[in-house]
Amino acid sequence: MSFDVAPESYQRFMGRFAEPLADRFAPLGDLHRGERALDVGCGPGALSERLVALLGADGVAAIDPSRSLVEAARARLPGVDVRRAAAEDLPFADGAFDAALAQLVVHFMDDPVAGLSEMARVTTPGGRVAACVWDHAGGTGPLSTFWDAVHDVDPDAPDESGLAGSREGDLARLLSRAGLADVETVTLTVRVAFDSFEDWWTPFTLGVGPAGTYVGGLEPDAAATLRERCRALLPEPPFTLGATAWGAYGRV
Ligand SMILES: C[S@@+](CC[C@H](N)C(=O)[O-])C[C@H]1O[C@@H](n2cnc3c(N)ncnc32)[C@H](O)[C@@H]1O
Repeated sequence: MSFDVAPESYQRFMGRFAEPLADRFAPLGDLHRGERALDVGCGPGALSERLVALLGADGVAAIDPSRSLVEAARARLPGVDVRRAAAEDLPFADGAFDAALAQLVVHFMDDPVAGLSEMARVTTPGGRVAACVWDHAGGTGPLSTFWDAVHDVDPDAPDESGLAGSREGDLARLLSRAGLADVETVTLTVRVAFDSFEDWWTPFTLGVGPAGTYVGGLEPDAAATLRERCRALLPEPPFTLGATAWGAYGRV
């Protein structure tokens, strides 16, 4: 899935969930000052920013295949080594980092086991590899109301529940298949406030991710029907939504 989108669109759509999630996810790296960390699929840099606060800019490197998001991360995080690359082929030496982390990325990798194996390769023996993916399959992710509404109006529409890592136990199995030891699973929940229905809906029209791609492919009438179904399923504004991700980590 390509994320060659305007960084502002990404931030309006997913950044508002990804920023607080990064506060919850970063500690899974078990990192300490003086160590080095890699943010895999960094997007505009939510997780990298938390890692910089812990390790300093020279203790953090980041990669992402999206040109626009790499540029945004470089602008946001001066001094961080941000490169355009994919998880499946990391441009770093064996054991270069004390931890490698991927926030909301495994489900978009072409080959999740290959990506996690590469993360293990560039992490020093005894170091951590950690990942998290929204609970799309369990219905507690940030997009659950949207996909519920989609299926109400179009039962055969695709969704994100079959993506790697989005089902309970998936991430742990993938980490084990990638050779990680002592794998543990946790849940990470964030809460995000919305002032109005438009505040929630408009980001879906910006073309970001599978949900944005789906809305972008609808005829205007179908988009209007979906929009009103979403409105009916959501609480009266203003409202706050919870969103839960599966997190898992293992030792190299
Ligand atoms: C939902 S965004 C998450 C971005 C960021 N980690 C965050 O939490 O905001 C998914 C990211 O994964 C990146 N991505 C997609 N395929 C990838 C791959 N094979 N390797 C690394 N990153 C990938 C996308 O470019 C995008 O930036």
